[in-house]
Amino acid sequence: MHEQQQHRQHRWRNQQHTDTHLAYMLVIFCRLDQRNLGDRRCALHALKRTLIDEAKARGEKPTPATVDKQIAGIERSEAALRAIESVEATGGTAHYFSLDLRDADAVQAVVDDVRNRYGKIDVLLHAGGMLIDRTLPNKEPSQFALVYDVKADGFFNLLKAATGMPIGATVVFSSVAGRFGNAAQSNYSAANDLLCKISSSMKAWRPQTRGIALDWTAWGSIGMATRGSVPKIMEMLGIDMLPPEVGVPTIRRELTYSGFKGEIVVGRRLGALMSEQDVTGGLDTDKVKALLASRERPLPMIGAVKAARLYGGLEVETTLDPQIQPFLFDHQIDGTPVLPGVMGTESFAELATLLFPGYRVAGKTGTGEIATPLGYTNSATNTSFVGWGPAEDPKFLVYIWLEKPEISIWGSEVAAPVFSDLVEDLVVLMNIPPDNVRLSLRYDGRNIAGLE
Ligand SMILES: NC(=O)c1ccc[n+]([C@@H]2O[C@H](COP(=O)([O-])OP(=O)(O)OC[C@H]3O[C@@H](n4cnc5c(N)ncnc54)[C@H](OP(=O)(O)O)[C@@H]3O)[C@@H](O)[C@H]2O)c1
Repeated sequence: MHEQQQHRQHRWRNQQHTDTHLAYMLVIFCRLDQRNLGDRRCALHALKRTLIDEAKARGEKPTPATVDKQIAGIERSEAALRAIESVEATGGTAHYFSLDLRDADAVQAVVDDVRNRYGKIDVLLHAGGMLIDRTLPNKEPSQFALVYDVKADGFFNLLKAATGMPIGATVVFSSVAGRFGNAAQSNYSAANDLLCKISSSMKAWRPQTRGIALDWTAWGSIGMATRGSVPKIMEMLGIDMLPPEVGVPTIRRELTYSGFKGEIVVGRRLGALMSEQDVTGGLDTDKVKALLASRERPLPMIGAVKAARLYGGLEVETTLDPQIQPFLFDHQIDGTPVLPGVMGTESFAELATLLFPGYRVAGKTGTGEIATPLGYTNSATNTSFVGWGPAEDPKFLVYIWLEKPEISIWGSEVAAPVFSDLVEDLVVLMNIPPDNVRLSLRYDGRNIAGLE
Protein backbone atom coordinates (compact mmCIF):
# COMPACT_ATOMS: atom_id res chain seq x y z
CA MET A 1 0.00 0.00 0.00
CA HIS A 2 2.82 2.30 0.95
CA GLU A 3 4.59 1.71 -2.36
CA GLN A 4 1.39 2.29 -4.30
CA GLN A 5 0.79 5.63 -2.56
CA GLN A 6 4.29 6.83 -3.26
CA HIS A 7 3.80 5.97 -6.90
CA ARG A 8 0.59 8.02 -7.01
CA GLN A 9 2.25 10.99 -5.36
CA HIS A 10 5.02 10.76 -7.90
CA ARG A 11 2.39 10.87 -10.64
CA TRP A 12 0.80 14.05 -9.25
CA ARG A 13 4.11 15.79 -9.39
CA ASN A 14 5.13 14.69 -12.86
CA GLN A 15 2.15 13.96 -15.00
CA GLN A 16 1.42 16.33 -17.84
CA HIS A 17 -2.17 17.42 -17.36
CA THR A 18 -3.91 17.64 -20.68
CA ASP A 19 -7.41 16.73 -19.50
CA THR A 20 -10.10 18.91 -20.95
CA HIS A 21 -13.04 17.26 -19.23
CA LEU A 22 -12.38 18.23 -15.64
CA ALA A 23 -15.04 17.61 -13.07
CA TYR A 24 -13.04 19.38 -10.40
CA MET A 25 -9.60 20.82 -10.44
CA LEU A 26 -7.76 21.33 -7.25
CA VAL A 27 -4.48 23.10 -6.76
CA ILE A 28 -2.91 22.62 -3.38
CA PHE A 29 -0.07 24.63 -1.98
CA CYS A 30 1.48 23.05 1.05
CA ARG A 31 4.48 21.10 2.02
CA LEU A 32 3.44 17.49 1.73
CA ASP A 33 5.44 15.22 3.96
CA GLN A 34 5.24 11.95 2.11
CA ARG A 35 6.90 9.89 4.76
CA ASN A 36 4.85 7.81 7.10
CA LEU A 37 1.51 8.47 5.43
CA GLY A 38 0.87 4.75 5.17
CA ASP A 39 1.72 4.29 8.83
CA ARG A 40 -0.55 7.18 9.75
CA ARG A 41 -3.37 5.45 8.07
CA CYS A 42 -2.61 2.14 9.72
CA ALA A 43 -2.57 3.20 13.33
CA LEU A 44 -1.63 6.19 15.37
CA HIS A 45 0.03 4.06 18.02
CA ALA A 46 2.17 2.29 15.47
CA LEU A 47 3.17 5.63 14.01
CA LYS A 48 4.13 7.01 17.40
CA ARG A 49 6.20 3.90 18.02
CA THR A 50 7.90 4.25 14.61
CA LEU A 51 8.73 7.92 15.22
CA ILE A 52 10.11 7.24 18.68
CA ASP A 53 12.21 4.35 17.38
CA GLU A 54 13.48 6.45 14.48
CA ALA A 55 14.46 9.29 16.82
CA LYS A 56 16.23 6.92 19.15
CA ALA A 57 18.06 5.36 16.22
CA ARG A 58 19.30 8.85 15.34
CA GLY A 59 20.60 9.21 18.89
CA GLU A 60 17.88 11.71 19.90
CA LYS A 61 15.71 11.71 22.98
CA PRO A 62 12.11 12.01 21.73
CA THR A 63 9.67 13.90 23.98
CA PRO A 64 5.86 13.75 23.74
CA ALA A 65 5.93 17.33 22.35
CA THR A 66 8.37 16.56 19.53
CA VAL A 67 6.50 13.39 18.60
CA ASP A 68 3.16 15.24 18.63
CA LYS A 69 4.63 17.92 16.37
CA GLN A 70 5.77 15.31 13.90
CA ILE A 71 2.38 13.61 14.02
CA ALA A 72 0.61 16.94 13.39
CA GLY A 73 2.74 17.43 10.26
CA ILE A 74 1.92 13.95 9.05
CA GLU A 75 -1.78 14.55 9.77
CA ARG A 76 -1.70 17.67 7.62
CA SER A 77 -0.07 15.77 4.77
CA GLU A 78 -2.60 12.99 5.14
CA ALA A 79 -5.42 15.53 4.91
CA ALA A 80 -3.91 16.92 1.69
CA LEU A 81 -3.60 13.41 0.33
CA ARG A 82 -7.25 12.74 1.19
CA ALA A 83 -8.32 15.92 -0.61
CA ILE A 84 -6.39 14.90 -3.71
CA GLU A 85 -7.86 11.41 -3.65
CA SER A 86 -11.41 12.67 -3.29
CA VAL A 87 -10.96 14.97 -6.29
CA GLU A 88 -9.60 12.09 -8.33
CA ALA A 89 -12.42 9.83 -7.15
CA THR A 90 -14.94 12.22 -8.69
CA GLY A 91 -13.07 12.19 -12.01
CA GLY A 92 -11.20 15.44 -11.52
CA THR A 93 -7.52 16.17 -11.73
CA ALA A 94 -5.45 17.36 -8.82
CA HIS A 95 -2.22 19.24 -9.29
CA TYR A 96 -0.01 19.35 -6.27
CA PHE A 97 2.65 21.99 -5.73
CA SER A 98 4.80 22.29 -2.67
CA LEU A 99 5.90 25.80 -1.79
CA ASP A 100 6.22 28.45 0.85
CA LEU A 101 3.44 30.99 0.37
CA ARG A 102 5.79 33.76 1.53
CA ASP A 103 7.96 33.15 -1.53
CA ALA A 104 6.44 35.53 -4.08
CA ASP A 105 8.42 34.13 -7.03
CA ALA A 106 7.44 30.55 -6.27
CA VAL A 107 3.77 31.53 -5.94
CA GLN A 108 3.99 33.51 -9.19
CA ALA A 109 5.42 30.50 -11.03
CA VAL A 110 2.60 28.21 -9.90
CA VAL A 111 -0.13 30.76 -10.58
CA ASP A 112 1.36 31.35 -14.03
CA ASP A 113 1.14 27.62 -14.58
CA VAL A 114 -2.56 27.72 -13.65
CA ARG A 115 -3.02 30.74 -15.92
CA ASN A 116 -1.44 28.89 -18.86
CA ARG A 117 -3.48 25.74 -18.32
CA TYR A 118 -6.88 27.21 -17.47
CA GLY A 119 -6.80 30.99 -17.82
CA LYS A 120 -9.00 31.42 -14.74
CA ILE A 121 -9.51 30.39 -11.15
CA ASP A 122 -13.00 29.43 -9.97
CA VAL A 123 -12.27 29.44 -6.25
CA LEU A 124 -9.05 30.49 -4.59
CA LEU A 125 -8.97 29.16 -1.04
CA HIS A 126 -6.25 30.38 1.30
CA ALA A 127 -6.06 28.24 4.43
CA GLY A 128 -2.35 28.51 5.12
CA GLY A 129 -1.55 29.52 8.65
CA MET A 130 0.36 28.72 11.79
CA LEU A 131 0.42 29.66 15.45
CA ILE A 132 3.20 30.77 17.78
CA ASP A 133 1.23 31.95 20.79
CA ARG A 134 3.22 34.25 23.01
CA THR A 135 2.70 37.67 24.50
CA LEU A 136 4.50 40.42 22.63
CA PRO A 137 7.44 40.83 25.03
CA ASN A 138 8.06 37.09 24.76
CA LYS A 139 7.78 36.87 21.01
CA GLU A 140 10.83 37.23 18.78
CA PRO A 141 10.34 39.65 15.86
CA SER A 142 11.01 36.74 13.48
CA GLN A 143 8.23 34.71 15.16
CA PHE A 144 5.89 37.66 14.91
CA ALA A 145 6.68 38.03 11.21
CA LEU A 146 6.41 34.33 10.40
CA VAL A 147 2.85 33.94 11.71
CA TYR A 148 1.80 37.23 10.15
CA ASP A 149 3.45 36.68 6.79
CA VAL A 150 2.18 33.17 6.05
CA LYS A 151 -1.34 34.56 6.19
CA ALA A 152 -1.01 38.13 4.96
CA ASP A 153 1.89 37.95 2.51
CA GLY A 154 0.61 34.55 1.41
CA PHE A 155 -2.72 35.98 0.33
CA PHE A 156 -1.12 39.08 -1.13
CA ASN A 157 1.30 36.97 -3.18
CA LEU A 158 -1.53 34.82 -4.52
CA LEU A 159 -3.65 37.81 -5.51
CA LYS A 160 -0.74 39.70 -6.95
CA ALA A 161 0.30 36.68 -9.01
CA ALA A 162 -3.26 36.35 -10.32
CA THR A 163 -3.49 39.99 -11.41
CA GLY A 164 -5.72 40.28 -14.44
CA MET A 165 -6.88 36.66 -14.24
CA PRO A 166 -10.58 36.05 -13.55
CA ILE A 167 -11.20 34.63 -10.07
CA GLY A 168 -14.76 33.57 -9.26
CA ALA A 169 -14.37 33.71 -5.50
CA THR A 170 -11.68 33.87 -2.88
CA VAL A 171 -12.19 32.15 0.46
CA VAL A 172 -9.78 32.94 3.26
CA PHE A 173 -9.67 31.02 6.51
CA SER A 174 -9.67 33.69 9.15
CA SER A 175 -10.36 33.26 12.82
CA VAL A 176 -12.50 34.62 15.62
CA ALA A 177 -9.12 35.74 16.97
CA GLY A 178 -9.04 38.24 14.10
CA ARG A 179 -12.53 39.45 14.85
CA PHE A 180 -12.39 39.58 18.67
CA GLY A 181 -8.67 39.48 19.44
CA ASN A 182 -7.06 36.79 21.57
CA ALA A 183 -4.39 36.70 24.22
CA ALA A 184 -0.87 35.98 22.93
CA GLN A 185 -2.07 36.07 19.31
CA SER A 186 -1.61 39.72 18.33
CA ASN A 187 0.17 38.87 15.07
CA TYR A 188 -2.22 36.04 14.22
CA SER A 189 -5.21 38.29 14.99
CA ALA A 190 -3.84 41.19 12.96
CA ALA A 191 -3.09 38.99 9.96
CA ASN A 192 -6.53 37.40 10.05
CA ASP A 193 -8.22 40.75 10.32
CA LEU A 194 -6.19 42.01 7.37
CA LEU A 195 -7.39 39.03 5.32
CA CYS A 196 -10.97 40.01 6.20
CA LYS A 197 -10.41 43.62 5.22
CA ILE A 198 -8.77 42.66 1.92
CA SER A 199 -11.66 40.28 1.18
CA SER A 200 -14.31 42.88 2.00
CA SER A 201 -12.55 45.58 0.01
CA MET A 202 -12.55 43.43 -3.14
CA LYS A 203 -15.99 44.83 -3.92
CA ALA A 204 -14.14 47.97 -4.90
CA TRP A 205 -11.04 46.75 -6.69
CA ARG A 206 -12.05 43.27 -7.95
CA PRO A 207 -15.83 43.55 -8.28
CA GLN A 208 -16.14 40.36 -10.36
CA THR A 209 -14.62 38.29 -7.56
CA ARG A 210 -16.59 37.32 -4.46
CA GLY A 211 -14.29 37.88 -1.51
CA ILE A 212 -15.36 35.71 1.43
CA ALA A 213 -13.58 35.61 4.79
CA LEU A 214 -14.62 32.91 7.24
CA ASP A 215 -13.86 33.72 10.87
CA TRP A 216 -13.75 30.19 12.22
CA THR A 217 -14.06 29.51 15.88
CA ALA A 218 -11.76 26.73 17.12
CA TRP A 219 -12.42 23.46 15.30
CA GLY A 220 -12.81 20.29 17.34
CA SER A 221 -11.12 16.97 16.52
CA ILE A 222 -9.06 18.29 13.56
CA GLY A 223 -6.65 21.13 12.98
CA MET A 224 -4.44 23.43 14.99
CA ALA A 225 -6.86 24.05 17.86
CA THR A 226 -6.86 20.38 18.85
CA ARG A 227 -3.18 20.53 19.69
CA GLY A 228 -1.63 21.11 23.12
CA SER A 229 -3.79 22.74 25.75
CA VAL A 230 -6.05 24.63 23.35
CA PRO A 231 -9.20 22.46 23.91
CA LYS A 232 -8.84 22.88 27.69
CA ILE A 233 -8.43 26.66 27.34
CA MET A 234 -11.50 26.81 25.08
CA GLU A 235 -13.52 24.94 27.68
CA MET A 236 -12.39 27.33 30.41
CA LEU A 237 -13.32 30.33 28.23
CA GLY A 238 -16.76 28.87 27.50
CA ILE A 239 -16.08 28.66 23.77
CA ASP A 240 -17.69 25.73 21.93
CA MET A 241 -15.45 23.98 19.46
CA LEU A 242 -16.84 23.51 15.98
CA PRO A 243 -17.34 19.91 14.84
CA PRO A 244 -15.89 19.38 11.33
CA GLU A 245 -19.22 18.04 10.07
CA VAL A 246 -20.71 21.46 10.83
CA GLY A 247 -17.75 23.52 9.67
CA VAL A 248 -16.90 21.85 6.37
CA PRO A 249 -20.32 22.29 4.68
CA THR A 250 -20.20 26.00 5.55
CA ILE A 251 -17.70 26.64 2.78
CA ARG A 252 -19.78 24.94 0.11
CA ARG A 253 -22.96 26.57 1.42
CA GLU A 254 -21.47 30.05 1.29
CA LEU A 255 -20.07 29.46 -2.19
CA THR A 256 -23.18 27.93 -3.69
CA TYR A 257 -26.27 29.24 -1.91
CA SER A 258 -25.26 32.61 -0.58
CA GLY A 259 -24.38 35.69 -2.54
CA PHE A 260 -22.70 37.27 0.46
CA LYS A 261 -19.36 39.01 0.09
CA GLY A 262 -17.26 39.88 3.13
CA GLU A 263 -16.64 38.54 6.60
CA ILE A 264 -18.66 35.77 8.25
CA VAL A 265 -18.22 34.57 11.83
CA VAL A 266 -18.71 30.80 12.05
CA GLY A 267 -19.09 29.46 15.56
CA ARG A 268 -21.34 28.46 18.39
CA ARG A 269 -21.10 29.80 21.95
CA LEU A 270 -18.26 32.31 21.90
CA GLY A 271 -18.03 32.58 25.70
CA ALA A 272 -15.41 35.00 26.94
CA LEU A 273 -14.93 36.46 23.47
CA MET A 274 -18.35 38.06 23.78
CA SER A 275 -17.89 39.52 27.25
CA GLU A 276 -16.90 43.12 27.77
CA GLN A 277 -13.37 43.40 29.13
CA ASP A 278 -13.43 47.08 29.97
CA VAL A 279 -16.14 49.36 31.40
CA THR A 280 -15.52 52.01 28.76
CA GLY A 281 -14.81 49.51 26.00
CA GLY A 282 -11.22 50.78 25.96
CA LEU A 283 -12.31 54.32 25.19
CA ASP A 284 -10.22 57.11 26.67
CA THR A 285 -13.10 59.30 27.82
CA ASP A 286 -10.83 62.21 28.78
CA LYS A 287 -9.43 62.32 25.26
CA VAL A 288 -12.95 62.36 23.81
CA LYS A 289 -13.89 65.16 26.18
CA ALA A 290 -10.89 67.22 25.05
CA LEU A 291 -11.67 66.48 21.42
CA LEU A 292 -15.27 67.61 21.80
CA ALA A 293 -14.18 70.77 23.60
CA SER A 294 -11.77 71.60 20.76
CA ARG A 295 -14.45 71.39 18.06
CA GLU A 296 -15.08 74.55 16.11
CA ARG A 297 -18.77 73.71 15.91
CA PRO A 298 -20.01 72.15 19.14
CA LEU A 299 -22.33 69.15 19.10
CA PRO A 300 -25.25 70.32 21.26
CA MET A 301 -26.78 66.86 21.74
CA ILE A 302 -23.56 65.17 22.89
CA GLY A 303 -22.95 65.57 26.60
CA ALA A 304 -20.48 63.17 28.21
CA VAL A 305 -19.29 60.22 26.17
CA LYS A 306 -19.25 57.39 28.72
CA ALA A 307 -18.26 54.30 26.75
CA ALA A 308 -17.91 52.68 23.36
CA ARG A 309 -18.47 49.06 24.31
CA LEU A 310 -18.04 46.22 21.90
CA TYR A 311 -21.56 44.92 22.49
CA GLY A 312 -23.18 47.88 24.23
CA GLY A 313 -22.52 50.42 21.51
CA LEU A 314 -21.72 54.05 22.09
CA GLU A 315 -23.05 55.45 25.37
CA VAL A 316 -23.56 59.17 25.71
CA GLU A 317 -25.16 61.02 28.60
CA THR A 318 -26.73 64.38 27.84
CA THR A 319 -28.51 66.59 30.32
CA LEU A 320 -31.36 68.49 28.76
CA ASP A 321 -31.57 71.87 30.43
CA PRO A 322 -33.24 74.90 28.80
CA GLN A 323 -30.58 77.08 30.40
CA ILE A 324 -27.91 75.18 28.43
CA GLN A 325 -29.94 74.30 25.31
CA PRO A 326 -32.15 77.34 24.64
CA PHE A 327 -33.92 75.59 21.75
CA LEU A 328 -35.94 73.75 24.40
CA PHE A 329 -37.69 77.03 25.19
CA ASP A 330 -38.89 77.19 21.59
CA HIS A 331 -40.87 74.00 22.04
CA GLN A 332 -43.09 74.30 25.02
CA ILE A 333 -46.37 72.65 25.78
CA ASP A 334 -48.33 74.56 28.36
CA GLY A 335 -45.13 76.25 29.48
CA THR A 336 -43.13 73.00 29.80
CA PRO A 337 -40.13 72.79 27.45
CA VAL A 338 -40.10 69.57 25.39
CA LEU A 339 -37.46 67.99 23.17
CA PRO A 340 -38.33 68.64 19.50
CA GLY A 341 -38.32 65.44 17.40
CA VAL A 342 -35.87 67.01 14.99
CA MET A 343 -33.31 67.21 17.78
CA GLY A 344 -33.67 63.45 18.17
CA THR A 345 -32.62 63.11 14.54
CA GLU A 346 -29.84 65.62 15.22
CA SER A 347 -28.61 63.38 18.06
CA PHE A 348 -28.31 60.45 15.65
CA ALA A 349 -26.34 62.61 13.22
CA GLU A 350 -24.04 63.81 15.98
CA LEU A 351 -23.53 60.28 17.28
CA ALA A 352 -22.70 59.14 13.74
CA THR A 353 -20.19 61.99 13.49
CA LEU A 354 -18.54 60.71 16.64
CA LEU A 355 -18.50 57.10 15.50
CA PHE A 356 -17.36 57.75 11.93
CA PRO A 357 -15.53 61.05 12.05
CA GLY A 358 -14.01 60.29 8.68
CA TYR A 359 -17.05 60.64 6.46
CA ARG A 360 -19.02 63.88 6.35
CA VAL A 361 -22.04 63.79 4.12
CA ALA A 362 -24.75 66.41 3.78
CA GLY A 363 -28.44 65.89 3.24
CA LYS A 364 -32.01 66.79 4.01
CA THR A 365 -35.06 64.71 4.76
CA GLY A 366 -38.41 65.43 3.18
CA THR A 367 -41.87 64.47 4.44
CA GLY A 368 -44.69 65.72 2.21
CA GLU A 369 -48.36 65.39 2.90
CA ILE A 370 -50.30 64.48 -0.22
CA ALA A 371 -52.71 67.00 -1.71
CA THR A 372 -56.24 65.76 -2.51
CA PRO A 373 -59.35 67.70 -3.62
CA LEU A 374 -60.41 67.60 0.03
CA GLY A 375 -57.15 68.97 1.39
CA TYR A 376 -53.93 67.33 2.55
CA THR A 377 -54.03 63.71 3.73
CA ASN A 378 -52.67 63.17 7.18
CA SER A 379 -52.54 59.40 6.99
CA ALA A 380 -50.08 59.03 4.10
CA THR A 381 -47.04 60.95 2.91
CA ASN A 382 -44.43 60.92 0.21
CA THR A 383 -40.98 60.94 1.70
CA SER A 384 -37.57 61.77 0.38
CA PHE A 385 -33.95 62.26 1.21
CA VAL A 386 -31.47 64.17 -0.88
CA GLY A 387 -27.82 64.09 0.07
CA TRP A 388 -24.29 64.19 -1.22
CA GLY A 389 -20.80 63.38 -0.11
CA PRO A 390 -18.13 64.04 0.83
CA ALA A 391 -19.87 67.15 2.17
CA GLU A 392 -17.15 69.63 1.16
CA ASP A 393 -16.03 67.91 -2.04
CA PRO A 394 -19.02 66.03 -3.49
CA LYS A 395 -18.36 62.88 -5.49
CA PHE A 396 -21.95 61.65 -5.50
CA LEU A 397 -25.45 63.01 -5.18
CA VAL A 398 -28.27 60.69 -4.15
CA TYR A 399 -31.99 61.40 -4.22
CA ILE A 400 -34.34 58.92 -2.58
CA TRP A 401 -38.09 59.26 -3.06
CA LEU A 402 -40.51 56.83 -1.46
CA GLU A 403 -44.18 57.06 -2.34
CA LYS A 404 -46.60 56.43 0.51
CA PRO A 405 -44.26 54.27 2.59
CA GLU A 406 -46.07 51.92 4.92
CA ILE A 407 -43.55 51.47 7.75
CA SER A 408 -43.55 55.12 8.74
CA ILE A 409 -44.78 58.43 7.35
CA TRP A 410 -41.51 60.24 8.14
CA GLY A 411 -38.68 60.78 5.67
CA SER A 412 -36.19 60.56 8.53
CA GLU A 413 -37.38 57.05 9.34
CA VAL A 414 -37.73 55.52 5.88
CA ALA A 415 -35.85 57.56 3.24
CA ALA A 416 -32.81 58.57 5.33
CA PRO A 417 -31.89 54.95 6.22
CA VAL A 418 -31.96 54.03 2.51
CA PHE A 419 -29.58 56.89 1.83
CA SER A 420 -27.36 55.73 4.66
CA ASP A 421 -27.25 52.12 3.38
CA LEU A 422 -26.48 53.28 -0.14
CA VAL A 423 -23.72 55.60 0.98
CA GLU A 424 -22.08 52.81 2.98
CA ASP A 425 -21.70 50.84 -0.25
CA LEU A 426 -20.96 53.88 -2.41
CA VAL A 427 -17.89 54.94 -0.47
CA VAL A 428 -16.51 51.43 -0.94
CA LEU A 429 -17.48 51.08 -4.59
CA MET A 430 -16.18 54.53 -5.47
CA ASN A 431 -13.04 54.07 -3.38
CA ILE A 432 -13.72 57.18 -1.35
CA PRO A 433 -11.46 57.18 1.69
CA PRO A 434 -12.31 58.90 4.99
CA ASP A 435 -11.95 62.67 4.91
CA ASN A 436 -8.73 62.77 6.90
CA VAL A 437 -7.04 60.32 4.53
CA ARG A 438 -8.43 62.03 1.45
CA LEU A 439 -7.36 65.49 2.55
CA SER A 440 -4.06 64.75 4.23
CA LEU A 441 -2.65 62.16 1.84
CA ARG A 442 -4.25 63.48 -1.31
CA TYR A 443 -5.27 59.88 -1.97
CA ASP A 444 -5.89 59.44 -5.68
CA GLY A 445 -8.51 56.72 -5.47
CA ARG A 446 -6.35 53.96 -6.96
CA ASN A 447 -6.41 50.42 -5.68
CA ILE A 448 -4.67 49.20 -2.59
CA ALA A 449 -1.04 48.29 -3.16
CA GLY A 450 -1.64 48.25 -6.91
CA LEU A 451 -3.19 44.79 -6.84
CA GLU A 452 -5.51 45.34 -9.77
N1 LIG B 1 -8.30 24.80 13.29
C1 LIG B 1 -8.92 25.82 13.84
O1 LIG B 1 -9.50 25.70 14.90
C2 LIG B 1 -8.91 27.14 13.14
C3 LIG B 1 -9.68 28.18 13.70
C4 LIG B 1 -9.67 29.41 13.07
C5 LIG B 1 -8.96 29.58 11.90
N2 LIG B 1 -8.20 28.56 11.39
C6 LIG B 1 -7.44 28.80 10.17
O2 LIG B 1 -7.69 27.76 9.27
C7 LIG B 1 -6.52 27.48 8.50
C8 LIG B 1 -6.20 26.00 8.57
O3 LIG B 1 -5.99 25.64 9.94
P1 LIG B 1 -5.68 24.17 10.41
O4 LIG B 1 -6.30 23.98 11.73
O5 LIG B 1 -6.01 23.23 9.31
O6 LIG B 1 -4.13 24.30 10.64
P2 LIG B 1 -2.97 23.30 10.30
O7 LIG B 1 -3.45 21.90 10.43
O8 LIG B 1 -1.81 23.71 11.14
O9 LIG B 1 -2.70 23.61 8.77
C9 LIG B 1 -2.11 24.81 8.38
C10 LIG B 1 -1.68 24.68 6.93
O10 LIG B 1 -0.95 25.85 6.57
C11 LIG B 1 0.19 25.42 5.84
N3 LIG B 1 1.29 26.36 5.94
C12 LIG B 1 1.88 26.87 7.04
N4 LIG B 1 2.88 27.68 6.70
C13 LIG B 1 2.93 27.69 5.34
C14 LIG B 1 3.73 28.35 4.38
N5 LIG B 1 4.70 29.21 4.75
N6 LIG B 1 3.51 28.13 3.07
C15 LIG B 1 2.53 27.28 2.66
N7 LIG B 1 1.72 26.64 3.53
C16 LIG B 1 1.92 26.84 4.85
C17 LIG B 1 0.57 24.11 6.50
O11 LIG B 1 1.41 23.40 5.64
P3 LIG B 1 2.45 22.34 6.27
O12 LIG B 1 1.64 21.17 6.64
O13 LIG B 1 3.36 22.09 5.14
O14 LIG B 1 3.10 22.98 7.45
C18 LIG B 1 -0.79 23.48 6.67
O15 LIG B 1 -1.19 22.84 5.50
C19 LIG B 1 -5.40 28.36 9.08
O16 LIG B 1 -5.27 29.48 8.27
C20 LIG B 1 -5.94 28.76 10.44
O17 LIG B 1 -5.44 30.01 10.84
C21 LIG B 1 -8.18 27.33 11.99
